[in-house]
Amino acid sequence: MTLTLAIETSCDDTCAAVLDGERVLSNAIASQGVHDAYGGVVPELAARQHVEAIGPVIGDALRTAGVEADAIEQVAVTRGPGLVGSLLCGVQTAKAFAAPSCLPVIPVDHMHGHLLSGRLAEVPPPAAPHLVLVASGGHTLLARVDGADPRADEIEILGRTLDDAAGEAIDKGARLLGLGYPGGPALARLAEQGDPEAYDLPTSARVAGLDFSFSGLKTALLYIVRDLAEAELEARRADLAASYQRAVVDTLILRIERALAQHDELDHVAIGGGVAANALLRRRLADLGCGLSIPAREYCTDNAAMIGVAAVASAPVAYPDFLALDAYGTGQGPIR
Ligand code: KG4
Ligand code: ZN
Repeated sequence: MTLTLAIETSCDDTCAAVLDGERVLSNAIASQGVHDAYGGVVPELAARQHVEAIGPVIGDALRTAGVEADAIEQVAVTRGPGLVGSLLCGVQTAKAFAAPSCLPVIPVDHMHGHLLSGRLAEVPPPAAPHLVLVASGGHTLLARVDGADPRADEIEILGRTLDDAAGEAIDKGARLLGLGYPGGPALARLAEQGDPEAYDLPTSARVAGLDFSFSGLKTALLYIVRDLAEAELEARRADLAASYQRAVVDTLILRIERALAQHDELDHVAIGGGVAANALLRRRLADLGCGLSIPAREYCTDNAAMIGVAAVASAPVAYPDFLALDAYGTGQGPIR
């Protein structure tokens, strides 16, 4: 099998992984704590942190895998979409690693990685067509994956968000409830102490078809929080967190159910993206009664292992052509 070094720096996590074919030998991540104080990722700070962290993170990935740098046969790297400054750090590092030994560089789309991350689950999805939900901070997609190694532009998008992404809705809701960034894990913790039925929040069920919408939900929470007195809000925070989390999960599950009902041939669901780490979502998926590929949480949030997997279905670029590779930002690339 081919030994791959995979690099992912699209947002605020500096990630490197070593894979033997699709078998993950290591998956190193350095998360940047610097953004918490700002309530969101500051692009310039993220880029600078990547520059400092990328060398040590690659060293960590190689050491954990027990692989010498000169044994690596190809380098896969996220080219976009994401924060361009952050992406450039990964892309230039990939070139610098690959050029001296003339290794090929495989540019990978970040969403392609999330869409194929179900392959990192213990029970991989079948080669036959299956449904994938990707719910992250920047994207919410429902897609149909056909064939064994679909290229990014071969994946059929069935539904997408009309406004906020699921993770964005979670982060904004968490912020309204006084929780830090990223909001997902903190909201889930607070929700454990609350009643998910306490508030009946909108799930955009009236949006027909397979598209998602989260803006009504966010606005509903905003009005409830605004109208509660401070002491009352404090007393209801856990109930609000639990109800809000339930509404996000209901919104996602409803579209999966619709897609499975519309497409008879699909009876297997894979998930990816940071929100796929959510325990309630994972429990609710188990109730669907279809086949599931649920990767470990470290493969749901941004990681380099999924970039190594998507590299299998992406075209390598030889030396010196890859020196001309550039990054692309949010809203660009083959999957939107
Ligand atoms: O895929 P990801 O790591 O980065 C992007 O590509 O955006 O997703 C980050 C998103 C954030 O909005 C974060 O709050 C959410 O995933 N998230 C979660 C959980 N862990 C991370 N949402 C719900 N429950 C979680 N346990
Ligand atoms: Zn992501």
